[in-house]
Formats: sequence, C-alpha cells, structure tokens
Amino acid sequence: MNYKSDCITEAEPTRKKVIENYEKCYGSVNIILMQRTYIKDVKGKTGEEVKISGFVDVRRDHGKLIFIDLRDISGKVQMVALPNHKEAHKLAGEVRPEWVIEVMGKVNKRPEKLINKNEPNGEVELEVLEIKILNQAETPPFNLQSDGKEIGEEARLKYRFLDLRRPRLQTNMVNRFKITQFVRNALEKEGFVEIETPLLSATTPEGSRDYIVPARLDKGKFYSLPQSPQQYKQLIMVAGFERYFQFARCMRDEDTRGDRQPEFTQLDLEMSFVAQEDVMALNEKLLIELVKAIYPEKKIQEIPFPRLTYKEVVEKYKTDKPDLRQDKNNPDLLAFLWIVDFPFFEKDDKTKPNSDGTPKWTFTHNPFSAPKPEHMDWLMKAEQIPEILTTQYDVVLNGFEIGGGSIRNHRPEALKKVFQIMGYTDDRIEKNFGHMLKALSSGAPPHGGIAWGFDRLVMLLQNEPNIREVIAFAKTGEGRDLMMGAPSEVSSEQLAELGIKITPR
Ligand code: AMO
Repeated sequence: MNYKSDCITEAEPTRKKVIENYEKCYGSVNIILMQRTYIKDVKGKTGEEVKISGFVDVRRDHGKLIFIDLRDISGKVQMVALPNHKEAHKLAGEVRPEWVIEVMGKVNKRPEKLINKNEPNGEVELEVLEIKILNQAETPPFNLQSDGKEIGEEARLKYRFLDLRRPRLQTNMVNRFKITQFVRNALEKEGFVEIETPLLSATTPEGSRDYIVPARLDKGKFYSLPQSPQQYKQLIMVAGFERYFQFARCMRDEDTRGDRQPEFTQLDLEMSFVAQEDVMALNEKLLIELVKAIYPEKKIQEIPFPRLTYKEVVEKYKTDKPDLRQDKNNPDLLAFLWIVDFPFFEKDDKTKPNSDGTPKWTFTHNPFSAPKPEHMDWLMKAEQIPEILTTQYDVVLNGFEIGGGSIRNHRPEALKKVFQIMGYTDDRIEKNFGHMLKALSSGAPPHGGIAWGFDRLVMLLQNEPNIREVIAFAKTGEGRDLMMGAPSEVSSEQLAELGIKITPR
C-alpha cells in the first residue's frame, strides 16, 4: 500500500503539511504511518508488510546479503537486507548491535532448508524494505547474547540497564510480575485488602540493624527504615480490617549473601480471628495454587507440606532449613516444609549481661509472637523460660527459609511480659512499645500472619542461584548500588542542614 496516496487527500491540508515535514526529516513517511507489530506476531503475517521496532541483536554482513536479528520485548526475528532496496541495504550495513531501529519489511516464508524449528519465528524472515535508525549505541561493555553467567557481577550490576536486556533476566522480571499478580488476585478473592505502610518510621526490633534517616526538621533525630511492617500490620488488625496484605519493601543493615539483600521484598499478610492452622492452611493453598498456575511443569514433592518441629529438624538434619528434595538434580522439584514449635527465647550473648553476669534472654524470631496456648501460663509467670514454645511457623523450600510468621500476643499484658523477660525496663517498654500496648488495650482481635521472602521464592521458582537475579536493580555483596553510585557522600550544605558532622577517619 502506498501510504502517501492512500492516506492523504487534498481535504486534509494540515495532515499533508505534517507529512511533508516528516518527509523532510526522515525521507520516508511509510514507516512512520504504519502501525507497529510486536515481533512475536510476525510469524502470523506471512506475505504482509509490517513495521517492527527494537534492538539490533546480531548482524551478519555477507556483502550482498546483510542479516540482522531484531529483538523486542516479545521475541526475535531474522531480517535480510537485499541490494535491490538500496537505501535500506546501505543503512543495514551501518547498524551495529544494540542500535535501536524501526524496520518496515515483508514477511516471507523461509525456504524449507533454512527453517529453524527451535526459534518461534524460525519459519519466517523479514525482507527489509525501509530502516529508520532511532538511536545508536556504544559498543556494550559485555556480551548481551549469552545468559550472562560468565560475566563478573560487578560489571553486570554497574550496567544493569544493559544486563536486563538478556532474555533470562527479562523472563525473571516478567514471571516475578506474574507471581505478584497471581497472589494479589488470589488474596483479593480471599477477602484481603492491600494497604501500604510507611517507610519513614521508628526503630522496631526485628533482629537486625536498622537503616536510619536523619530528620531535617527535628535535628539530631532519625527515622528508621522498616525491617518489616510487623507493627503496622498488627495495628491494621486493631483498626478492624481483618485481612491485610502488602508487597512490602524491607530494609536490614546486615551482611549480604546470595539469599539476602539489604533491601528486599516481603509478601506480608495478617489475619484476624485466626489460629496457627488457619494461617498455615491459607498460605499452603496459595503456594500450591501459584505453582500450578504459573509453573505447571514443576512438581511439589509432598502435599500437604510435611511438618517438623524445630527439635526434630535440628536433631535429624542439623539445620532448621533442610533441603528435603529426593532428587536434587531435578530443577522442577519443589520440597516445601513447615517448621513449628520453635523455642520462644534464647540466651543473648551479644548484649550486656544481667548485673549477676548471666546472659539476658532474647527472642528467637519475633517479640510480638504469642507463645503456644499451653505455654501462656509459663510466659505470664516468667517460668520455664527455655521451655516456652512460640506459635512461630517457618516455611522452607529446597533448603531456603522462604517465609515465617506467628500468632501474636493480642493482650497487652502478654506482650509486656515478653519485654520484661528480656530485661527491658518499664520506661523503655513504654517509650518503644507504648503505642502497641495502647493499641492492644483498645479492643484488639486475636490475630496472626506471615511474611514470605518474595525474592527468595521467585529465585527458587526461576531456578536462579541467588536473589540478585530476580531483583531488577540489586546491590552488590557489599550493599553498593554500582550503577547509581550509592551509598555516596553528600554535600556539606546538606549535612549542615541536618546538623550532622562527619568525623574524619
Ligand atoms: P522474617 O524476619 O523471618 O519475619 O522475614 C520473613 C522472610 O523474609 C525473608 N528475608 C529476606 N530476604 C532477602 N533478604 C533479606 N535480608 C531477608 N531477611 C529476611 C526470609 C524470611 O523468611 N515480621 C516477620 C514476619 C511475620 O511474623 O509476619 C518477619 O519479618 O525469607
């Protein structure tokens, strides 16, 4: 079709003017007027002319014939530039990998012997009629055609915008999104509402170091970034929402590992009027349905998920996150496992001991947890402390802890008792947790919840070796963002405004 004569009539003088201007700039209007086709749809358009846009993947110059593989978010297609389309052939000779181009071409069926059954577009080829160069690209710092596993991670993270062009990482991101959407929809059907909670907040004991943010309007004071939305989600239960969830960003200043980032995502949820069984059953069902819907090729080793007590698991496997897969070479085998009956308290050798030199008690998992109902009496009397078991449940998958939660103390006196056993003074309890005690004294329903380590779950489902592969802009092992250059120094003006002085080392 000739777009100029078919689309423009004398009755459209303004449009004509626009087209003339385009022509002056770009030489051709056909390519501009044509609607873009996604590369995945090219194979269904044999014999037709289409316009595709994307990145040059590879170019093979055979002199007369120039082959270019073009890539967009939906796939890849092989194109061929022939000398009879002179201008297009000349431009095809100029383009380089990662240039961004738009191409108008005719979809031809490949001759039988050139069909590539392994490629979605392997039966067709685009004969290039016109090329428009949208942007050139410097030579990339590393190979983008491989899966990237052979390239140093520092370089990959520094040029993450290029690294993310790899089909492997694009699939990771797309599937991460699919899981998110699945969970959102499933939880909505179960009566949950998604509620966002603050990032600028106060310190909360979650077992790690907080990241802190100086407060300009309150010099000398700091916000803490949340290690989890634990207290907020309990307050949401006190507020009467009954079923809450959130894809929550959590920040923990701890040493980074393959399954740990300073900033990570939890699927956090909380439910009112439930017991341990209810939360576990809902989460087990959600995990099973999610695998069936998004990873039908994967097999869950055992349903219902096996359950072991902390004592059993440590005695038998010497770890509280054993990998129970019967065949560890099978990438599609998922061995889920619940661990229950953790001790509530353990001796704390990190903080200052009691005045008599004995170490203080600290919580093993979560200070807001309730003890098992049969141990509530011990807690309230501060008796048999090492024997008190918590309602904590952890979910483990293929040797990784992918989530944990508990039923909470919904009575203020029980929560206060936990802090007293840990040696907190009444002043400290009031200062740090007064708001929680007040809330629990305002008609708090019994409640409990869980948080999944969402990055870990996606990592395992995508068969990736570490969570950095499923986080778009991950940090290095030292917690640096090499691309943005964070952490970084700030100006002396910023420091002065915050009333902060840096002591030179
Ligand atoms: P917990 O501290 O066990 O519980 O965290 C829940 C899950 O989050 C994941 N996780 C991490 N993932 C990546 N990087 C990290 N640094 C990191 N730290 C933890 C783990 C873990 O199982 N408030 C409670 C939850 C609750 O009781 O509802 C909490 O945060 O997979």
